[in-house]
Amino acid sequence: MCGIIGMVCKEKFESNDVIKMLKRLEYRGYDSFGIATDSGLFEKEIGEIKAVQNNFCKQAISHTRWSTHGRVTKANAHPHKDCTGNITIVHNGIIENYLELKKQLPKHVFVSETDTEVIAHYLEEKTRTKPIRDAITDFMKDAQGTFSVVVMIKGDENLYAFKRGSPLSLGLMKDGHVIASDIYAFSDKTDKAIFFNEDEFAIVTEKDYEFYRLIGNTLNPVTKDIITVKWSGCEEKKNFNHYMIKEIYEEPAVVERLINSLNTEQNSDLEKMKKLMTEAKRIVFVASGTSYHATLLGVYFLNKVGVEAHAIIASEFRNFYLVDKETLIVAVTQSGETMDVIEALHGMKDKGAKIASLVNVPYSTIQRMSNVSINIEAGQEICVAATKSFVNQVVCLAYLASMFEKKNSVEQVSKSIKHIFSQEEKIKQIAKSLAKHDDIYVIGRGFLYPIAREIALKIKEISYIHAEGMMGGELKHGTLALIEEGTPVLVLMGGKNEIVSNAMEVKARGGRIIEIGGNGVMGEFISIDAEDKLSSALSAAVIGQLLTYYIALEKGLPIDKPRNLAKVCTTK
Ligand code: BG6
Repeated sequence: MCGIIGMVCKEKFESNDVIKMLKRLEYRGYDSFGIATDSGLFEKEIGEIKAVQNNFCKQAISHTRWSTHGRVTKANAHPHKDCTGNITIVHNGIIENYLELKKQLPKHVFVSETDTEVIAHYLEEKTRTKPIRDAITDFMKDAQGTFSVVVMIKGDENLYAFKRGSPLSLGLMKDGHVIASDIYAFSDKTDKAIFFNEDEFAIVTEKDYEFYRLIGNTLNPVTKDIITVKWSGCEEKKNFNHYMIKEIYEEPAVVERLINSLNTEQNSDLEKMKKLMTEAKRIVFVASGTSYHATLLGVYFLNKVGVEAHAIIASEFRNFYLVDKETLIVAVTQSGETMDVIEALHGMKDKGAKIASLVNVPYSTIQRMSNVSINIEAGQEICVAATKSFVNQVVCLAYLASMFEKKNSVEQVSKSIKHIFSQEEKIKQIAKSLAKHDDIYVIGRGFLYPIAREIALKIKEISYIHAEGMMGGELKHGTLALIEEGTPVLVLMGGKNEIVSNAMEVKARGGRIIEIGGNGVMGEFISIDAEDKLSSALSAAVIGQLLTYYIALEKGLPIDKPRNLAKVCTTK
């Protein structure tokens, strides 16, 4: 997948302002990038996005590429032009019939191997006899495949944007408009956005915009809702000391973005995944690390709607699971590149199994191995410890379960997480007192058991303290022997009351109880404001993330890049 941007403003702006926005789309691919402006800048480079020649302009289009058609070369980098150089475009998606369209343009000179360049020449040919708006309408009728495109035309004050299958949104700024693959790109410019739906086309100027939808063969004007995106905290790390805390603060916004995406452009893929689950005799999740803890919640939510599923740690998958043509394997992986998961999937299709996946990095290896794949839309996650991607994985799995039977409302998650942020000071104080310990235990039952394991993993990864997360009922079968005077035990309150008696077993031996989600009957507590299990579970997870962050801060540890670990383990 690629990232595209278009911007048109009343006042002139700098080309590197657009590059800064493009940088936020880098998670969508970074083989090459480019930019074109109405004041003549046309620069493309292979490799990571970096500053370009400074140039003041009123219109610009820009692109970061993950190559699908054509090698990683400067010529194949976007933007692409027509023969005259008057039409410049950027594109995300795949034009499946581009060779057929290209054949209809014999007189045109192509300088790249891309499907995208065909769009520029197609529009050039059509605009010989009709206005650009009709030329684009013809393209939308003739093209097969997926596209989000922004077109800039020399001497034309409009930008033209149209979409099918690939995401596109319009940001409304006080002095102009920005079009981007993802609202993430303009998160520090506006919180007002419009999402393009399928087969929609917009004409955008510095002060206005018009939306149309292609229905059958006609373009019909449509009115669009303006969404206020609730960004939590500033998007730029510069207001945060570490990516970890920045990414935790992004959670309410990326949850909203995911839900919007699942309700719109990804809904058809979700339906496909549901169909595969319905047809399969066996459903098994495969994942590693934090992603594995998300799948445990997936198993829980599916179980509650009568769908049986299992979760197996990827590195042991082949030893503990039989696969045949009745099996659906669901890989859950932030990076989409974890070798343990790739290894687990290898050869499974030959056994007749189907593969589905939830990934955060589009076009990753595991996504490309899948029969169907959903993007969890958490945006680029830099910190080695997974935080926002975990939250979105769980929201996505709960959403999937609710497609079988409406039991979980995902709508409350953002609000519940914001309630946790309001207790940050208290969490910080508790974290400081935990920093001196060598062992921390976390217990939970039911839907909170996976969260107990996830919090313990966070504590180990980032604060280098030995931590164990387990089922509350399991404590008495051995681990209780390790509880001494003052040993801290985080107790995830909620769900079954038995957890209280497990906590009392700890208290009776001098252990220090910290209630997560309680009201302090047994010791210190951090409250949770959530009516449903999903919001309760994720609120507890976010408390664990913040506790870990502040423990590590107290200990003066690196946080974003902890020792011995990597964001993606591409080795077995
Ligand atoms: C580890 C990461 O390397 O891999 C963890 O440090 C992550 O944060 C685990 O949970 C699994 O990664 P992925 O990309 O498959 O979810």
